[in-house]
Amino acid sequence: MPLVIAHRGANRLAPENTVAAFKKALELNVDGFENDVHQTLDGRLVVCHDDAVDRTSNGTGLICEKTFEEVRALDFGGWFAPEFAGEKIPALEEFFELCGPLKVVNVEIKRAADGSIASAAAVVRMAREMGVFDKLIVSSFDMDMLQACLAEDAATRICFLYAPDNEEACEAIEDDPAGFAKKYSLYAYHPFVMLVSEDYIEECHAAGIVVNPWTINQDHAMHMLCEWGADGIITDESALAMQLVYGQS
Ligand code: G3P
Ligand code: MG
Repeated sequence: MPLVIAHRGANRLAPENTVAAFKKALELNVDGFENDVHQTLDGRLVVCHDDAVDRTSNGTGLICEKTFEEVRALDFGGWFAPEFAGEKIPALEEFFELCGPLKVVNVEIKRAADGSIASAAAVVRMAREMGVFDKLIVSSFDMDMLQACLAEDAATRICFLYAPDNEEACEAIEDDPAGFAKKYSLYAYHPFVMLVSEDYIEECHAAGIVVNPWTINQDHAMHMLCEWGADGIITDESALAMQLVYGQS
């Protein structure tokens, strides 16, 4: 059975990447969370998908140009529904504190708008300090960031995210998934779902590589990936996925 990994928390039920969304996902008994992490001007790690606050808060501007105090003053819930007004952007510490019941904690690191990759090593350090390193998998579309995690701690389980727009990676992985993974010391591939086939999963598994596709929101795709033996499914529809994978209502 694949692990059910709640993409940005249970983002259909509460504003994405907020404590409310992760608590809703815990209520559904998911196996894991996926989030996205950025670093503030004063070096704090915060959970937010975009590099700017505009789409998911009542503020504007880049996270890397604001202090933690400045981003914390914004409302990250009201845009979603009035009852979530006042939700704060989570500090990564708060996010890790919620992760006790989980089997896997997927932190996605994105390169900052100013080009900095400093958040990579900082995420790994914090996971170690907070005792969640054993559950941590770090994913990124950016191989430099993944390699920076390994430089910080060679035991970090790094996962390469890729989609059809990265033609070079798609070709290289299609040609030789085991070789590409070995070259970069990857623990897992996190492919866009359309890139996944049963043969690909088999080939990855034969080479000891974990496969966690995204974003799996439809029941037929969930069924297919269960049959094909995917290790995890990263989903916006956590309730549906729990129902299909574990028969929970
Ligand atoms: O980790 C899977 C998925 O989150 C990658 O894309 O843009 O939703 O962070 P995005
Ligand atoms: Mg993400």
